[in-house]
Amino acid sequence: MIQVQNLRVSVEWKEILRNIDIAFETGKTYYLLGQNGSGKSSLALTLMGHPKYQIQEGSMTIDGENLATMTPDERSHRWLFLSLQNIPEVRGVRLGEYLRTIYNRNLSAGTKALSPFLCRRYLTTLTKELSMPESFLDRDLNVGFSGGEKRKIEILQMKLLNPRYIILDEIESGLDVDAFRTVAELLSRVKTPDNTLIIITHNFRMTEFVKPNEVIILKNGEIAERGGGELVEKIGVGGFES
Ligand SMILES: Nc1ncnc2c1ncn2[C@@H]1O[C@H](COP(=O)(O)OP(=O)(O)OP(=O)(O)O)[C@@H](O)[C@H]1O
Ligand SMILES: [Mg+2]
Repeated sequence: MIQVQNLRVSVEWKEILRNIDIAFETGKTYYLLGQNGSGKSSLALTLMGHPKYQIQEGSMTIDGENLATMTPDERSHRWLFLSLQNIPEVRGVRLGEYLRTIYNRNLSAGTKALSPFLCRRYLTTLTKELSMPESFLDRDLNVGFSGGEKRKIEILQMKLLNPRYIILDEIESGLDVDAFRTVAELLSRVKTPDNTLIIITHNFRMTEFVKPNEVIILKNGEIAERGGGELVEKIGVGGFES
């Protein structure tokens, strides 16, 4: 479980989150909703340990350990995964090599590192499962891929790493209706009783594919309301102000 208590966060002395209390329990799906600029990405980046987001007050723990003092690298070793709102492109690093590196750096106890040959075989299976051309593995990381293809690459990473806490920041951005459906369906298959999804989205159709256990609405850096799936319908009809 990730437990966030009385969290207050600032960026360059500007306070952007306050009084945040949330428990993200294992096996559940959370939707973080709110207007543009309400603080959703800031909360995601704070959980992941972006150095710009300074915790001024409060605490964050992961499975009982202090999350706030861990480096982003340590957080990823605790099986925390953030899918970014804007995906960076990295020239000179091949997707296949990148995936093998992150897999071998995040091995769970008792698992052996994969050789380039075995890793390629495993990655080929995963690309088939996701209906991606295998040749993607030989291209530079995210360079020149379409929005939908980049999202599929992220889902490939999730399948490979099997993270326990997955934060998705507007995974729908840049996707056409068909690609949205594909990505949403793939996500519904990423969800297991052993992981936790934290979904930030402006497309409420996502809730048809991945059902929320709890919906949290942020407004001006604070939690304005929380509830179940019925909140999504209410906002869909009357907007956030309702
Ligand atoms: N690095 C930063 N420097 C300055 N201000 C920031 C920074 N990061 C966030 N903010 C400010 O904090 C507020 C919350 O931003 P945030 O990106 O978390 O919103 P959001 O809810 O994710 O919005 P959107 O739905 O548009 O993605 C905004 O006013 C934003 O300008
Ligand atoms: Mg955002």
